[in-house]
Amino acid sequence: MRLELVSLTAALGSSAHAAVAGEKRLNNGLGIKPALGWNSWNAGQCNAASAKFALDTANKFVSLGLKDLGYEYIVIDDCWSTKSRNSSGYLVPDPSKWPNGIKAVSDQIHSMGLKFGLYGCAGTMTCAGYPGSEGHEVQDAKTLASWGVDYWKYDNCYTPCNGGRVQTCGSPIGNTRTWMTTMGNALQQSGRNIFYNLCQWGRDSVWTWGASVGNTWRMSTDNWNDWASVVRIASAAAGISQYSGPGGFNDLDMMQVGNGKLTPAEEKTHFGLWAMCKSPIVLGNDLSKISSATLAIVKNKDLLAINQDSLGKAATTFRPSGAAAPVSGQLYPYWAGPLSDGVVVGLTAANGAATLSVNFKDVPGLGSGSYSWKELYSGQTGTGTSVSFNLASHDMVVLKVKTS
Ligand code: GAL
Repeated sequence: MRLELVSLTAALGSSAHAAVAGEKRLNNGLGIKPALGWNSWNAGQCNAASAKFALDTANKFVSLGLKDLGYEYIVIDDCWSTKSRNSSGYLVPDPSKWPNGIKAVSDQIHSMGLKFGLYGCAGTMTCAGYPGSEGHEVQDAKTLASWGVDYWKYDNCYTPCNGGRVQTCGSPIGNTRTWMTTMGNALQQSGRNIFYNLCQWGRDSVWTWGASVGNTWRMSTDNWNDWASVVRIASAAAGISQYSGPGGFNDLDMMQVGNGKLTPAEEKTHFGLWAMCKSPIVLGNDLSKISSATLAIVKNKDLLAINQDSLGKAATTFRPSGAAAPVSGQLYPYWAGPLSDGVVVGLTAANGAATLSVNFKDVPGLGSGSYSWKELYSGQTGTGTSVSFNLASHDMVVLKVKTS
C-alpha cells in the first residue's frame, strides 16, 4: 500500500546524537553479509503473493544464473493469507494462491538450494488489510517455523495510534522498538533460526537499535519506482552508514530495477549505490520479463562483490577539496567506502550530464600515491593519482581502487 512520507525527516534529523554503544547485536548468525534475494511486492503487489510466483522466481534464480551469484531469498510480501485467521487463531494461506499450502513451496525452494521468506505486520492488520500479528506473535512465529520459513519481513501498519487504528499512524502510542522486539523474541523462541527484516520505515532512529533486534532494518519510506526515491533514500543512507555492519545492515528497500520507470543510467545508479551502501539487494521485478540490460546490472559480479565484501562497511559521501558541500535530501556526486582489499569510489551525475573528477588523495582511505583502478560497469581500468569521467545525466561509475 502506498504510505505517505511521514516523520522521516524528523527522525533522520535526530541521528546525530545516536550511539550504538551498549547495544548488543542480535547475533543469530544470519545476515553476516547483506541479504541477496527477491520480493514479490514491487513486482506485482498482491497479485504476486502466490506459490506460482514464488516457484517461477526460484526457477528463474537458477536458469538466469542468479543463484550461482549468491541470490538466495525468495520472499512473498503482503496478501498471501486469507483475510481472517481460523477459529484457533492461526494464519491461513489463501488456498487460491497456495493450493498445496506454504510448506510444500518452502520445501521445494529448499530443495533447489534457496531460501523462503514471508511478510507480516506488527499491528492488527497488514498494510493491505490482511491479519496482523499483534497479540499472536508467539503463535505466528511457531507457524512460520513449522512451514520452514527462513526470512520474516515485519511491517508497521495498524499499530497503536492516538488517532485510532489507521494504516499509517502519524501519532503513535509507544515506540516501534517495542513491537519489533516482541516479534523478535518470538522468532528466537520459535525453534527455527529466522532472518528478521524490520520494516518500520526508518522510524524511531531504528539504525541506532535495529542491529540488536533484527538483521536488517528499513531506514526510509518506500522506494516508489522513481528517480526521486533513489535520491531520497541514498542521500539519507549516507548519514547513517556507520550503523551497518556484519549481521545488521541498513535496508534501503527493495530494488526497482527492471520495473520500467528508471532510465538505463538510473538503474545503474540505483544498483550501484545500494551495492556500495551494503543494502540488502532484494530484486523487485518480474524475472520472466527482465531485459538483458537490467540482467547485466543485477548480475554484475564486481558490484555484487563490493556489496558482499567481508568488511561489511557501508560507503558514504566524501567532499573533495573545492567541491560544494552535500545538501540534505539531494544526491551528492562523491561516494566512497572501505573494502577488505581496497576502496570503492562512486561518482554520480545527480543533476544532469557532467564531467566528474576525483583526486585519489581526497578519498578517505587513499593517499597521495598512484593507484590502479577498475570501473565496475564498463570494465575499464587505469592507473594514476586521479580519474575523470564524462557521465550522462543520472549515470554512475563505480571504481574499485586497489591499495596494494
Ligand atoms: C509497506 C512496505 C512495503 C510493502 C507494503 C505491503 O508498508 O513498506 O515494502 O511491504 O507495505 O503492503
